[in-house]
Amino acid sequence: MASLLPLLAALAALLRSAHAHGGLNNYTVGETWYPGFDPNLPASLQLHPIPQRQYNTISPLFSATDPALSCNTPGTPAPSQSHITLPAGANLTAIYYHWIHPVGPMTVWLSRCGDSPHDCMTIDTAAASWFKIWEAGLLEGPDLATGMWYQKRFQNWEGGGEGRWEVRVPRGLRSGGYIVRHEVMSVHVENRAQFYVSCGHLEVVRGEGEGEGEGEWMVRFPGAYRQDDPSIDINIYAEEMVGVTDYIIPGGPVWPG
Ligand SMILES: *[C@@H]1O[C@H](CO)[C@@H](O)[C@H](O)[C@H]1NC(C)=O
Ligand SMILES: *[C@@H]1O[C@H](CO)[C@@H](O)[C@H](O)[C@H]1NC(C)=O
Repeated sequence: MASLLPLLAALAALLRSAHAHGGLNNYTVGETWYPGFDPNLPASLQLHPIPQRQYNTISPLFSATDPALSCNTPGTPAPSQSHITLPAGANLTAIYYHWIHPVGPMTVWLSRCGDSPHDCMTIDTAAASWFKIWEAGLLEGPDLATGMWYQKRFQNWEGGGEGRWEVRVPRGLRSGGYIVRHEVMSVHVENRAQFYVSCGHLEVVRGEGEGEGEGEWMVRFPGAYRQDDPSIDINIYAEEMVGVTDYIIPGGPVWPG
């Protein structure tokens, strides 16, 4: 009987994820783990330092102009908001458990708060300027519906365990406080894109660069996307999409750093 318990626990986790969606659970830098905010628990019970901002559901947003598109709902700092300190040029890994969706682009964005990560505590993320530092879409054909997306490779719900989304923080970044924003857009439902967003606080040190994104690289959320963008209002299963591998990831180019 005792030997059945791990199996039952795994099954329960699987069932939970099957009717739920997903979210960013933890961050790592090298061997160091940073626990994320847990949307299943009241914020008042999460008093240990958490670099991730609060989000209260693992369900997606369904509108490209949702007021919560910057950092999810409520997207405010956690009760004991902390930050991740890492050098410019280091890798930040976002850990997701049981990611279930396969199709659509994944992007990572930064917004500079000021010289200190404490400046991130008072930022209105919907009014902030963001620049894209990473993106991945379709990796290989034969078309959008059946090809291999980065998201499909990241999909992990059958095997359990952790999905690792590893991204380099640009070497050319200026030191200071930043909000990092991870977005998974899933387009497996016809003309009903889903947006999964998560924000966390960073302190970037030893930045060799003088800058961060500016000018043409800067966007707002909401603001960066249009609901009628053909990459967002898309039916990948339509007849005319057979054999199509072109897909423009919304939000403009990646900051060259
Ligand atoms: C990672 O996130 C999961 C799910 O929220 C949590 O149970 C676990 O304790 C976290 N791991 C670490 C090392 O913080
Ligand atoms: C950092 O992440 C990139 C992917 O963004 C990967 O290609 C590279 O190998 C990683 N570097 C290290 C040191 O793990």
